Amino acid sequence: MAMHNDIFALIIIIILSLISRSSSIDEEQLDHNYWQEETGYDFQAYPSNIRSHFDYNSTLLERGAYDDGLSRFSRLQSSIKTISVDSFGARGDGSDDSEIYGTVEASDDRSDYSKDGSHWILFDSVESLIVEGGGIINGNGNIWWKNSCKINKALAVTFYKCQDLIVQNIKVQDAQQIHISFEGCANVQASYLVVTAPENSPNTDGIHVTNTQNIQISSCTIGTGDDCISIVSGSQKVQATDIICGPGHGISIGSLGARNSEEYVVNVTVNNAKLSGTTNGVRIKTWQGGSGSASNIKFQNIQMQDVKNPIIVDQNYCDQATPCNEQNSAVQVRNVVYQNIKGTSASDFAINFNCSKSFPCQGIVLRDVDLVEDGGQPAKAFCNNVNLSNIGYVSPHCS
Ligand SMILES: *[C@@H]1O[C@H](CO)[C@@H](O)[C@H](O)[C@H]1NC(C)=O
Ligand SMILES: *[C@@H]1O[C@H](CO)[C@@H](O)[C@H](O)[C@H]1NC(C)=O
Ligand SMILES: *[C@@H]1O[C@H](CO)[C@@H](O)[C@H](O)[C@H]1NC(C)=O
Ligand SMILES: *[C@@H]1O[C@H](CO)[C@@H](O)[C@H](O)[C@H]1NC(C)=O
Repeated sequence: MAMHNDIFALIIIIILSLISRSSSIDEEQLDHNYWQEETGYDFQAYPSNIRSHFDYNSTLLERGAYDDGLSRFSRLQSSIKTISVDSFGARGDGSDDSEIYGTVEASDDRSDYSKDGSHWILFDSVESLIVEGGGIINGNGNIWWKNSCKINKALAVTFYKCQDLIVQNIKVQDAQQIHISFEGCANVQASYLVVTAPENSPNTDGIHVTNTQNIQISSCTIGTGDDCISIVSGSQKVQATDIICGPGHGISIGSLGARNSEEYVVNVTVNNAKLSGTTNGVRIKTWQGGSGSASNIKFQNIQMQDVKNPIIVDQNYCDQATPCNEQNSAVQVRNVVYQNIKGTSASDFAINFNCSKSFPCQGIVLRDVDLVEDGGQPAKAFCNNVNLSNIGYVSPHCS
């Protein structure tokens, strides 16, 4: 029996009547407390039977998955406004999936992905969609992490070319690679998401944003083996607010400019974040030889705890087996404000601007920055090819 048919068996609840929710979303976003308390939602209480907490007039859209191991929701009718990922799914125990659990689990047989190794759950070109529920999406990533994951990329949940999208109250764990990816989307609100994977799981970014315009990511708790949030090429107007991050590689813009590409990221604000035990805090990383820019970026109200590189711009990023040769072009880093950033660094260098010789970092502002080493000793700043100004109390200071 095709194991994955059972494992992937999905019951998707489509709620045809859109509940009036815009006002409550705004309140939630303002709320700095995290949602376990605020919403009374408790993952431990799940899995439970979906029917018991869905009283809407719902339609079962789809039961079972495609042969390629993909769950695909393409071009849903515009009348469909909400998909609840609450608790669909069934166990691959070979029986009929009349027992509903609160977890969607991925097949752990990699051959199930042979037709499309790059996606698991894909929302393709959907407009005006709400994805929510409180369920758990479990990518069962262990089998992938052991294999060479850079060859076969699989994303757990991908939103591709979606517009006017709300994604909220979902837990995604142990993704094959990236947990939640927004690609080519516009007008997105992603909130109350919890993403977890082990610290040593490779390439398991929490929330990945690429080519996406106008996205608000708020009240999310992310701990994985890679970036909590990664914002890459073509992204504009990205706001991340009330983020708890760690373990992981921190909040990153980039990498940009790999393989001599021209890439742009503009208008990013990270406001109110707490990072603990991460390898980076707020990072911008670009490869030598690229072009384009990362500009108009604001990192503010950020608390660092035991973070290895709290503030870092690395324009010599080189994530490959062979060394990267020095090149004359670079992605320009311009107009970046670091404001009210406090806490502790796990390394000597709490501030590291390792900018390009040919394209120095321009318009960097440090305002009210107070970072010390873990033990409380003064930290250091490494500042290479950077044009920066200090406002208020700034420590450490570029010499
Ligand atoms: C559910 O919706 C259908 C189609 O709109 C309608 O005919 C039916 O009466 C509804 N059922 C309930 C219980 O509201
Ligand atoms: C970035 O933000 C600035 C200021 O709000 C605005 O003038 C500019 O048009 C934005 N750029 C893009 C590409 O969105
Ligand atoms: C700056 O980048 C260069 C080139 O990658 C690297 O050798 C050096 O160690 C970096 N310096 C710091 C302080 O990170
Ligand atoms: C630093 O930036 C300011 C403002 O953009 C500019 O006027 C100044 O010439 C720059 N200095 C250097 C050394 O690049």
